[in-house]
Amino acid sequence: MSWRVTAPGRVNLIGEHTDYNGLPVFPIAIDRDIRVDFRVLDDPVVRLDSPSARFAPFAFRLKRPIEASAQGDWSNYVRAAARGLLEHGISLDRGIEGTVSGDVPIASGLSSSSALVVASALALLKANGVTLPRLQLAALMARAERFVGLEGGGMDQAACLHGIAGHALRIEFDPLRVTPVPVPDGWRWVVASSLVRAEKSAGAREMYNERARQCREALAASVGAASGGGAAKSRNRAASTATTYRDLVSADDPDGLLRDARRILSPVLFRRFRHVVTEGSRVALAEQAMSDGDLHRFGRLMVRSHESLRDDYEVSTDELDAIVGVAREAGAAGARLTGAGFGGCAVALCDDSTVEPVMEALTARFYKPRLGGPPTTDMLFVAKPSGGAGVQER
Ligand code: GLA
Repeated sequence: MSWRVTAPGRVNLIGEHTDYNGLPVFPIAIDRDIRVDFRVLDDPVVRLDSPSARFAPFAFRLKRPIEASAQGDWSNYVRAAARGLLEHGISLDRGIEGTVSGDVPIASGLSSSSALVVASALALLKANGVTLPRLQLAALMARAERFVGLEGGGMDQAACLHGIAGHALRIEFDPLRVTPVPVPDGWRWVVASSLVRAEKSAGAREMYNERARQCREALAASVGAASGGGAAKSRNRAASTATTYRDLVSADDPDGLLRDARRILSPVLFRRFRHVVTEGSRVALAEQAMSDGDLHRFGRLMVRSHESLRDDYEVSTDELDAIVGVAREAGAAGARLTGAGFGGCAVALCDDSTVEPVMEALTARFYKPRLGGPPTTDMLFVAKPSGGAGVQER
């Protein structure tokens, strides 16, 4: 008997670099998947290949410790899944043999790597007749993926496992929760590659982890100052008892909170802090705009999110800024970088009347000058909010 796992990529609509700070995110799972076609082996071995010459075949045994392969090697995502399951106490006596394929663009900020982690876990669970609740599996795989060295949050694995056709997903953390929100008819999500690779396991990793560290430092300093009393305490009841970013975002007086933070934090830490707390509050506003069917309000929040990622979090690039600018000039309601940044993709919110002009403008003004011709359908496409990962018999 043979099986196929499909695991979708995701596009984050808003709430960027908030997940590892315990604040919500708002992605969609998309209609592009990583697929693992496999058969079950009686031995505890994983043997996988790929139709693409870029991804060499590999094999490893399902016995602890599972060692990492060289940095950047694609097998590490499969090893991470296996290791996460074994460390959770699941015995993997049977292995899998098969082929990994898919149409999620790689290193593009669309979470092909988490889709591979989730797909591998589902294949190994299937092979061993084990089922886990999806929320638990999402949390487990988020931890497991840190094996590749990125101190990532839990958005990607949760979106991959919980996608629902036609819905965006409000994902909250500590504990993990997922709430589907219907996307209004006629909202269109244009995804545009910046043509710059953003490899989670390579170059972008250090810059990402540096920001995670800066956020922790900024939080510790702000919480310390607020609980110490003084101006912060009198102005901000919630802030005075805060220990997390979530407490801070719900403070009575967000402007006062930022004024206090500016006094005690270095300029860089202050900018990181301001991004996290303002982005955290934009997620709730964006969800409300979507529920109200207000395309333009949602779009304006995307633009503010992009500006904050560009100026305060410093994860945008000239190419991403150019895409956002062209998309807006051509009539998109909003646009922003999506995923970690440092390259990868931007997403633009359009309706039926603007989707074509926006794609035409991006083709003419962004892609043709850089490529000498039109973009491929992996570089510029409309992403549909889609269902989550699953296993079917082939
Ligand atoms: C990467 C991580 C996610 C999230 C985003 C930024 O995709 O894997 O957990 O932190 O970056 O929002």
